[in-house]
Amino acid sequence: MSKPLRTVVFPVAGFGTRFLPATKTVPKEMLPVVDTPLIHYAVEEARQAGMERFVFITGRGKGAMENYFDHAFELERVLREGAKDDALRQLEGALLEPGAAFFTRQQQALGLGHAVACAGPLIDDEPFAVILPDDLVLSKTPCLKQMVDVYNKYGGNIVAVMDVPREHTDRYGILDIASEDGPLVGVKGLVEKPAPDEAPSTLSIIGRYILQPEIFRMLEEQEQGAGGEIQLTDAIARTIGRIPFHGLRFEGQRFDCGNKAGYVKANVAFALQRDDLRDDVLAFLKENIG
Ligand code: G1P
Repeated sequence: MSKPLRTVVFPVAGFGTRFLPATKTVPKEMLPVVDTPLIHYAVEEARQAGMERFVFITGRGKGAMENYFDHAFELERVLREGAKDDALRQLEGALLEPGAAFFTRQQQALGLGHAVACAGPLIDDEPFAVILPDDLVLSKTPCLKQMVDVYNKYGGNIVAVMDVPREHTDRYGILDIASEDGPLVGVKGLVEKPAPDEAPSTLSIIGRYILQPEIFRMLEEQEQGAGGEIQLTDAIARTIGRIPFHGLRFEGQRFDCGNKAGYVKANVAFALQRDDLRDDVLAFLKENIG
């Protein structure tokens, strides 16, 4: 393997219209699951997978994210003076060092492939990871770390995958499966958002990718695909056969926080993981179910 895998890209320019009115002024990536913004989970997952450079593809109105990963001096001083050590420690988790974080704007909403292409000049000739913060994964080993472990063995392009109900294939990138070896899936093709009766399988890409820099060349000449957008899936599909490609059935539970039900479920599931909330929330659920 040539260049190190150390950069992660977060495409975070979307308007989040499904979460209006909240997203009128709050970036959807700043919506909290329990008490932590979605983008914080994404950064933490990337860190735990060994990423050192964090590229945010943002847009107008997304400034809160840049502030979030910086010091908040007044707040920190008040907490220090009040000896609120726990709160201070939590803030430390939301810091990115100067030189580790890069914010660039997508400028035009032309699709996920276009968003990733915007990171090209900041990455140049190295492999990189992509995390879509909407897709939140609850797992023992962070999802991207599971993928890095596979990457260290096989290299190439890797996506995290899971089965979805057939009626939902038109929401995802879907794999045309060539072979299966435990959690690893060999792939002969990819289709973005196929209709249920046309989908080659029900195995769908969730928002985790490890990609070789060749993808930038593919994206440069990528034509519009599903929904009239430049699709990342289509560009990856064109590398199959030339660059090793694997789907990984990751261990863990994935929540689609890009829709309301998924977001509420994530809040419940993450609250149940917390010692300070579990009993209370569980009692409430028991009382109110059935
Ligand atoms: C994007 C990708 C799709 C992938 C999905 C995962 O779609 O284009 O291939 O399956 O993320 O969440 P979007 O949700 O942006 O429509």
